[in-house]
Amino acid sequence: MSDDALFPLELVQAEALRAGPRLVAPGAVHVPHWLSLEQQRWIVERFVEWTHGPVPLRAATLPGGHQMSVRTVCLGWHWQPYRYTREATDVNGLSVLDFPDWMVRLGRKAVATAYSSGGGVDDSLAELPASYTPDAALVNFYEHGATMGMHQDKDERSNAPVVSLSIGDECIFRFGNTQTRTKPYSDVQLRSGDLFVFGGPSRFAYHGIPKVLQGTAPEGCGLSYGRINITMRVTGMS
Ligand code: SIN
Ligand code: MN
Repeated sequence: MSDDALFPLELVQAEALRAGPRLVAPGAVHVPHWLSLEQQRWIVERFVEWTHGPVPLRAATLPGGHQMSVRTVCLGWHWQPYRYTREATDVNGLSVLDFPDWMVRLGRKAVATAYSSGGGVDDSLAELPASYTPDAALVNFYEHGATMGMHQDKDERSNAPVVSLSIGDECIFRFGNTQTRTKPYSDVQLRSGDLFVFGGPSRFAYHGIPKVLQGTAPEGCGLSYGRINITMRVTGMS
């Protein structure tokens, strides 16, 4: 009997759903298979619209001149190393698209799912969802061996959680500690449709993407190659 017949995909997904949220560190929760394939396809369609502008996908240039291998389009606020602006002054000077209402609602659901059992901290995180109002999204597109070095998300003036959604190829998400870029860290395999939320004591943990596993995007997710990652954040700016 083939592996496919022995382990039909539906069964694997049902297993993952039963497994539910997995605590990676206090405040850092991985929820496998959170988005259905239909939801993933719908988000990929929105992604294609976002790339039509007014601000196109671009690889940010870091101080020192190194260009990132990931290309990004932003919603709500434009991120550039290392600040948020309303206009993409490092691209074409135009204002970025508004942060969509549906994404605020999705962000609240994400936080509710991740922290429904306390997020490994206490009930303070479980109280968050109703007030969680992300106002910036960085939408990253990884192709042709793109990676992301270990960094902290610390350009926000808020310590509200970061909500991360993955669609397309699988990747290794390295989730570390708040002190150093190096060990201790956990390597988490993020697959298409997975949710990862990091807040509370893990909000300023170093993290990065050392590897994307090319050609692993599941059929029906809407992407034939590459990986999309959406991170929602609360900038704390007005
Ligand atoms: C990021 O840290 O901004 C992106 C993380 C990811 O691609 O999963
Ligand atoms: Mn980050």
